[in-house]
Amino acid sequence: MLQFVDVSKRYAHGAPLALSQVSLDVAEGEFVVVLGRSGAGKSTLIRCANGLVSPSSGEVRWNGRSVTAARHRELLDLRSEMGMIFQQFHLIDRLDVQTNVMVGRFHDLPLWRVLIGSFPAEVREQARQALARVGIDHLAEQRADGLSGGQQQRVAIARVLMQRPKLLLGDEPVASLDPVTADVILKLLKEIHQQERMTTLLNLHDVRLAKQVATRIVGIRSGRVVFDGPPDQVDDARIREIYGAAE
Ligand SMILES: Nc1ncnc2c1ncn2[C@@H]1O[C@H](COP(=O)(O)OP(=O)(O)O)[C@@H](O)[C@H]1O
Ligand SMILES: [Mg+2]
Repeated sequence: MLQFVDVSKRYAHGAPLALSQVSLDVAEGEFVVVLGRSGAGKSTLIRCANGLVSPSSGEVRWNGRSVTAARHRELLDLRSEMGMIFQQFHLIDRLDVQTNVMVGRFHDLPLWRVLIGSFPAEVREQARQALARVGIDHLAEQRADGLSGGQQQRVAIARVLMQRPKLLLGDEPVASLDPVTADVILKLLKEIHQQERMTTLLNLHDVRLAKQVATRIVGIRSGRVVFDGPPDQVDDARIREIYGAAE
């Protein structure tokens, strides 16, 4: 479904490789968690998946189509099949929750509708359902910036559900949340993964959480894949391999 073929990335001339010859094949239905210490290349990997970052060499393919070679319209087209959630939620603060969720339909609505907030009844109804799905339909009219972190991430997940993506990407989606909320949000993502059959690729830095939700764990260290296997193989020795000795 999503293939990284010998992908390397160097951000600047003379800088170290952020990714080094990464080859990975994410199959439909997997829940892949990428683990690694800060600076290992996790965000770079996730961002290469949807072309937010271009590899310096190698190629990313999506269902056989090259993300790396895609430009403009074709890239937007590929991206419309991939949803993304972020550590900092990326909501539009001054807008209410429901409007933030409806923005998830931007791929197939005329831009003017999104800009003036004029959404068809069918989209409004779909947004209500997405909010109910993530357990916060009662917050639909509230401004996004008045919500807690956990609530904001629920809004971002509802927005992604509107998009009906085939692949969900997440760049540290629970890193800004307290441990209890992080747990709840990850469980929600796991539930959505199972119920909507949404293939998921996200990075986390909490090994315990990763083992709870992942069907497969990829460990990266200094831009290289140093582990790729099922969660039950991630023991203390593997963790040391992925994270390195404490400094
Ligand atoms: N936009 C950027 N410009 C220059 N260097 C970057 C950029 N993004 C990341 N890097 C560098 O690439 C390496 C990998 O970073 P990143 O993918 O953000 O790692 P992680 O998400 O695992 O913390 C780091 O050395 C980081 O400093
Ligand atoms: Mg990162």
